[in-house]
Amino acid sequence: MSKTLTASRTAVLVCQGRAAADGLVAPDRFADPTAMPLLRPDEREAVEWVRDGTPPRQWRQRVDYETVRASRDMMVPRTVAIDDAVRERPGPQVVILGAGLDGRAWRMPELAGATVFEVDQPASQQDKRERSARLSGRPPAFVPVDFRTERLSAGLAAAGHRAGEATTWVWEGVVPYLTEAEVAATVAEIAAGSGPGSRLVVNFQTPAASIGFGRLLARVLMASTGRSTVWKNEPWRSTWTPAAMGRLLAAHGYAVTRDDALAETAAGLATPVPRRSSLPHSCVIIADRD
Ligand SMILES: C[S@@+](CC[C@H](N)C(=O)[O-])C[C@H]1O[C@@H](n2cnc3c(N)ncnc32)[C@H](O)[C@@H]1O
Repeated sequence: MSKTLTASRTAVLVCQGRAAADGLVAPDRFADPTAMPLLRPDEREAVEWVRDGTPPRQWRQRVDYETVRASRDMMVPRTVAIDDAVRERPGPQVVILGAGLDGRAWRMPELAGATVFEVDQPASQQDKRERSARLSGRPPAFVPVDFRTERLSAGLAAAGHRAGEATTWVWEGVVPYLTEAEVAATVAEIAAGSGPGSRLVVNFQTPAASIGFGRLLARVLMASTGRSTVWKNEPWRSTWTPAAMGRLLAAHGYAVTRDDALAETAAGLATPVPRRSSLPHSCVIIADRD
């Protein structure tokens, strides 16, 4: 299987979504002051348009505006659901799987006493190392692992993770990029590294025909500006029903404590749930091991 040689573009898009929302959307429940500093100047442009709420007139810029706005609508409920789950059980070890430009290690005071590991495929992680030099605070231990070709447990052990002790695992926005078999293999690796008291917070997409239509539309819109979408090199490979994900976790000793449909989280925050977006088909499961 070939290695991914370029940094993740989807990681940039979700970071743009958080930067667009910070301080403006559901400010009593959502904040991510690390998002804007993690972006490069050209990536901040569309974020500023969304923050201003002024759709640009030029078509190419308008497509970027709509893309970042859709990301913002997804990222607010997703971040709130996952932050709440991490706050309830923050460590002593936290592993962020497919971390991308996640700023939790720097921004969450609840993680101050935890040892935080960030796992990502090597090119994305190198990109994160360069960008995060701008952030203040204690950086995580960086663990380069490609879930499709490498052993997570070996990488974590080499970085000092203690497999027999409690770990809070955050697996956000990554499951769709793995096949069912790769997801199952990664859950087995997570389970092998989970001592008593561990928690797994996993976000995934449920099957829906409208997602294929949404992707096609995004592709056509981007193509009309002479560019490719961020999903060109990061295709979706699996979707899961909450029941199927629950069964997989149970087979590895994790009992589902909560199952959050992000559309409901968004409704509770009074943030938008665009019907044709992937938000109505996005879930977060919180599973614990005694
Ligand atoms: C949509 S981004 C999500 C980033 C971050 N979790 C967040 O929500 O902000 C997808 C992330 O998954 C990572 N990823 C995708 N496939 C991977 C693989 N096979 N092994 C390791 N990381 C992978 C990408 O590098 C990228 O950082």
